[in-house]
Amino acid sequence: MKAVAVFPQEKKIQIIDHPMPKLESETDVKIRILEVGICGTDREIARLEYGTPPKNSSYLVIGHETIGQVVEIGPKVSKIKPGDFVVPMVRRPCWHPDCPACRSGRQDFCLTGDFSERGIKLLHGFMTEFVVDDQKYMNLVPPQIKDLAVLVEPLTIAEKGLIQVWDVEKRLPWLDAPGAEEKYAHKQKALVLGAGPVGLLGAMALLVRGFETWVYSRDPKDSVKAKFAESIGGKYISSRDTGIQELPKQIGNIDLIYEATGAAAISFQAMEILGINGVFIFTGVPGRKGPIQIDADLIMRNLVLKNQLVYGTVNAGKDAFEKAISDLTEFAARWPQQIHQIITGRYPVNDYQDLLLGPISGMKRVISFSS
Ligand code: BGC
Repeated sequence: MKAVAVFPQEKKIQIIDHPMPKLESETDVKIRILEVGICGTDREIARLEYGTPPKNSSYLVIGHETIGQVVEIGPKVSKIKPGDFVVPMVRRPCWHPDCPACRSGRQDFCLTGDFSERGIKLLHGFMTEFVVDDQKYMNLVPPQIKDLAVLVEPLTIAEKGLIQVWDVEKRLPWLDAPGAEEKYAHKQKALVLGAGPVGLLGAMALLVRGFETWVYSRDPKDSVKAKFAESIGGKYISSRDTGIQELPKQIGNIDLIYEATGAAAISFQAMEILGINGVFIFTGVPGRKGPIQIDADLIMRNLVLKNQLVYGTVNAGKDAFEKAISDLTEFAARWPQQIHQIITGRYPVNDYQDLLLGPISGMKRVISFSS
């Protein structure tokens, strides 16, 4: 069957004939891949800057954002049946008996670093025709959102980040009370940095939770992304018109900053404007470009004097996948036109070179295996 694979030793990427996977355990599920999304991580792997093939393989089949349809199940599969639509998770646990994260099914917090990730690290990914994996890594998707479900995995990044926001905010006693999430989220102000798919999906997730939400990005105010942010009820500010230091004048106390740029300089500058009791979430993974200058004294003063909290988030657990599926269903109901605009193009697999190595354009570009 067809697959897109990178060969790190031979420094090439190409379509290969990859062996058809078979059910290996009684709880395995085989899916036919319908769509695979392309993200910055895939492009880094394609440039041979990231990614590790499985042991004993000279290549890595890439792709980790996907939606598939079940074609075969093992005899002990109980929750999934042929014909169902599913989104598989990305990370698989390490083998260390004493890794509490992996042993409790939360390999997204793996402590040893010996986890594997499909399409990224030591396991083949989803940019191929069929995939087999255990039912516990498969998440059922309602058929009515199957055309959007390729967005589930990128949305899990925001979901994992936001699940933790509420855990953190419970340190404030008035937020640790029944109904507080609904009551106070509506008064909170969130700033999203970046208007790529992770940023805009994050903005949608914040808006459905009731946050007043601003999106700050370098795209001009009349750009497609700006219009998109405004059409879902967000407020858009372009960095071409407004410097970062001026944002609090327009926004007020910034309760939450959700970083989705992968750019360190702008992100650390934004830490300077985080509000009182504010939370800053990093999601981007910048390439190493050398040291930058930041106003560390100011950032440290603010962290202390304003009770701020900063954390990063990577990968996602089952809870974030389930929340992403329910949120995507909600987005489709609230913003039926807009949510489809995030997927800016569906391409045949033969276009992989341009998609992975050509210029970035649009929002989320997707390889469709069903066409
Ligand atoms: C993926 C995550 C993965 C991370 C690091 C991201 O693009 O969405 O699942 O953990 O890359 O490899």
